[in-house]
Amino acid sequence: MNDLKEGREQWGSRLGFILAAMGSAVGLGNIWRFSYVTGESGGAAFLLIYILCILAIGIPILMAEFTIGRRAQSDVVGSFETLAPGKPWVLAGFLGVASAFIILSFYAVVAGWSLHYFVQYLSGGPSIDAEGGYGGYFGEFISSPLQPLFWQFAFMVLTVGIVFVGVKKGIEKSNKILMPLLAVLVLVLAGYSMTLGGAQEAIAFLFTPDWSSLTDPNVYFAALGQAFFSLSLGMGALITYGSYLSKKDKLPGAAVSVAGLDTLFAIVAGLMIFPAVFAFGIEPDSGPGLVFITLPGIFDSITGGGIFGLAFFFLLSAAALSSGVSLLEVAVAYFMRKFQWSRQKTAIFIGFIIFILGIPSSLGLGILSDVQIFGRDIFDTMDFIASNIFLPIGGLIIALFVGWGWKKADALDASDFGDTLIGNGWILILRFFAPVAIFIIFLSSIGVL
Ligand code: PFF
Repeated sequence: MNDLKEGREQWGSRLGFILAAMGSAVGLGNIWRFSYVTGESGGAAFLLIYILCILAIGIPILMAEFTIGRRAQSDVVGSFETLAPGKPWVLAGFLGVASAFIILSFYAVVAGWSLHYFVQYLSGGPSIDAEGGYGGYFGEFISSPLQPLFWQFAFMVLTVGIVFVGVKKGIEKSNKILMPLLAVLVLVLAGYSMTLGGAQEAIAFLFTPDWSSLTDPNVYFAALGQAFFSLSLGMGALITYGSYLSKKDKLPGAAVSVAGLDTLFAIVAGLMIFPAVFAFGIEPDSGPGLVFITLPGIFDSITGGGIFGLAFFFLLSAAALSSGVSLLEVAVAYFMRKFQWSRQKTAIFIGFIIFILGIPSSLGLGILSDVQIFGRDIFDTMDFIASNIFLPIGGLIIALFVGWGWKKADALDASDFGDTLIGNGWILILRFFAPVAIFIIFLSSIGVL
């Protein structure tokens, strides 16, 4: 099958692939989204279910995506068309491309905030007035009409720039250097944040579950959505990345390393953010601004903290960039093949459309804040549709496809598991457990169960 696609781009090495997949997984989701969703969902009980979702649903589907991509050597839509021509499984491919547009459109808004903070720290940090503090500063910034749009545009230009250069030179290179740096910085900041006085409360909040919240279906729904979002799952980003891999690379180890590192990142980010949340008396459920309000407070309390602020927002922006790149790549890989466009032209064109699509999300936090859809602003609506609905449905179809739509022996062979106990367990999870669990979580969240 591989020789049919001669000339298709490939990763330079297995490590390069793993780092790029980690770069896709580790992003704003681990720091920005994880902390505020955990804060809004009550802490420890959510974290527990989140980890269970990663282990029991996330890792098996991640393996499924890598397996599909590497075997088919094509983009999300093309992969299903290659492996199951004429069958409805390709729906997952189209949902994936749609999710890429939606997620990147609002992702770029938040990444733009991060860029703005980075630039603020170039000159010592955001200048706040005593009354409003960092919360006031953040609120004013995101609700102003033009500034956030400028930074969102800047982020899209960077993302397009990397996808423009291509898989090996662009995506692989940038990840190798920046990810380890971000990991070190988050660890150092978590260590410092634990000395701020809110540590005990933070640990209780994150690790002592209030068991009664396990009866709340919304906690499961939020945890499932966060697991998919954080692992870049359910929309073919990892099918696309797997498609740049050759047969000789082993998949299961890569899947476990990506999921493990991603989860560790989120937990350490929690240990960085929540002690400060409690030490500064901020409400854990303050919403999407949580990191942008708490972290500048931490930097303020460190002598020379401006340097930390600068480094942090630089690395957060870089992490957002490597995830943004994987989102754009899903759409670009599809349109390139479909219309035989060049990589360069496709990246610019699709990137521009996604920027336009993201404008309402940004304005929805300011001049369009009166526009509410079922009680959510435009930004939250986009996030909700993509993360909580499209990604789990995409994941459900991917699980069913590998479990039922593909000959078992072929799937086992393509995954590198072979006919082993683990391999058979994996197929069983994809056939029964994962689809049923996703389905039940859906039904209970809409109140049917
Ligand atoms: N996993 C990324 C994050 O946690 O920030 C976001 C993301 C990237 C979601 C790529 C989906 C995706 F395909």
